[in-house]
Parts: sequence; C-alpha cells; structure tokens
Amino acid sequence: MKPIKVRNGIPFYYDKSDSEFRMDVYEQYDTTVMKNARRYLSGNRVSESLDYLVNCIRQNDQSTVIVENGCGIGYHTAMISKEFDDALIFGFDLSYQMLSMAADLWIHKKKSTNSTLTAFFQKHGLSLDVEILDQNPKMQLALAKCEKLPLENEMVDVSYSCYLWDRIADNKDFVLEQHRILRKGGYLIVLGPMTFTNNTAWEAWYPFAKLVAFVVNLGFKLIDQSSWQERDVFDGRNNHITWQIEGFCFEKV
Ligand SMILES: C[S@@+](CC[C@H](N)C(=O)[O-])C[C@H]1O[C@@H](n2cnc3c(N)ncnc32)[C@H](O)[C@@H]1O
Repeated sequence: MKPIKVRNGIPFYYDKSDSEFRMDVYEQYDTTVMKNARRYLSGNRVSESLDYLVNCIRQNDQSTVIVENGCGIGYHTAMISKEFDDALIFGFDLSYQMLSMAADLWIHKKKSTNSTLTAFFQKHGLSLDVEILDQNPKMQLALAKCEKLPLENEMVDVSYSCYLWDRIADNKDFVLEQHRILRKGGYLIVLGPMTFTNNTAWEAWYPFAKLVAFVVNLGFKLIDQSSWQERDVFDGRNNHITWQIEGFCFEKV
C-alpha cells in the first residue's frame, strides 16, 4: 500500500494533524521518548515480557509475518526480529518521534542518537547498553493506527502489542483490525500493566474475564493467560517502578 507521505524515511499511513501532534504525549522527545528508551536500553533492564512474546510466538506453527502494534522505540520489534530472523516484522506506531528513535537506533544506527542517550542515561546514573544496539534487525517501521493497518487481509501470523491496550481509544476497532490481518490460527498477543485511568475502562476490562470474553466474542480463543512483575528501573541505584503485567495469547478461530 502506498503511504500518504514519507518523513525522514518514516512512511505515514495516517494523516496526523498538527493538533494531534501537539496533543500527543508520545511526541514529546525529551520526556516520553527518552523515558521509553531508558526502560529498554540500560544494562539494568528486565525483560520478562520479551520472554513471554518469544515463548508464545514459538508455539505458533508458522511465524513468517509478525506485527507489533504501538512499537514505541522498537525494542521488542528489534529483539523479536533477531529471535525470528527469517520473519518479516512490521512495527507500527502513531508517534513520529517514537518511530524516529526506533529508526535511528535499529536501522540507521545513528551515533548522535547514542551520544544523546548516553548523556541522558548518565544523568540518571545508568549506562547505555551498546551491545543491545549491535543487532541487525530486519524490521519495517511505519506511522499507522493499529485500528487501521496498511496490510492485506489474513497476511499475518502473529500480531502483538505491549503496554498498549490501556492506551487505545477504541479496543473493538483494534481487535477487529487484528482479526482482519491475521490468518486463521494466527496469534494475537496482548500484554501490559493495564493501568486504566478511568472508571469506564476499569468496568469494561477488569476483572480480566471481561477482557477475555470481549476478545473471544470477536472471533478468537484464549490459549494462554499469565501474569508477572516487571521492574522499570529509572536510576543507577535500582530505584524502580514495579509493573504488574498481564499477558494474553489468543488464537484466531
Ligand atoms: C506506553 S507506549 C508503549 C510502547 C512500547 N510498546 C513499549 O512496550 O515500550 C504506547 C505506544 O503506543 C502508541 N500508540 C498509542 N495509540 C496508538 C494507536 N491507536 N495506534 C498505534 N500506536 C499507538 C504510542 O504512540 C506509544 O508509542
């Protein structure tokens, strides 16, 4: 599919307006983008979520086309691409700044980005794990809404999202779009801390049997539900937030 435009190598499949750019916290480079980088690129990172994704994807009989929805700075996209090196992997996000950081880190391997990150990390007593950036992932990044992806029907084997479910405006549109792009037997993996910020969302999704019933009603079956804790370390003294993560793996029926 042809993009609407391309900015610095990032194809746009959604025409994001100036006011949407201004209102989007994920477009704030010095705060949100850098904090996301800090979570994943310091030597202190912990990545049980990555293990969960890898284990689920391994269970699928075929994993040649993989999608990450809301890929942010592309840490999971790059690591999954490294783990499944024959697969074609797409990382979609709605934030140009997040995608730019992802492209600089994993595709262009820009040294200037590494120096900016090194300075930011040093300020917090952390060090940038340069080995992790020494990967060569075959990933494609694009700006698109995960509710309307630039992909053909049933061309995807596994589609996943991390820390996204509680950020999407319309979860029904999201699940229906995943159903459209996934082949029969394909997996939809959803994981995150589910930090809902309004009572409507709490009522809709918690306890999680409600979330499961919602996805199942849209044409999936649940094949795994797990929970674990993940530390988000924010300084060199190991000060951290502990996220309570819930992971769901659904199969398209
Ligand atoms: C909390 S961050 C998580 C980023 C990454 N998945 C991670 O685990 O660090 C949520 C991301 O989802 C993106 N996002 C939010 N709504 C989206 C949508 N409707 N379609 C695509 N991406 C979206 C944001 O731009 C942001 O990068």
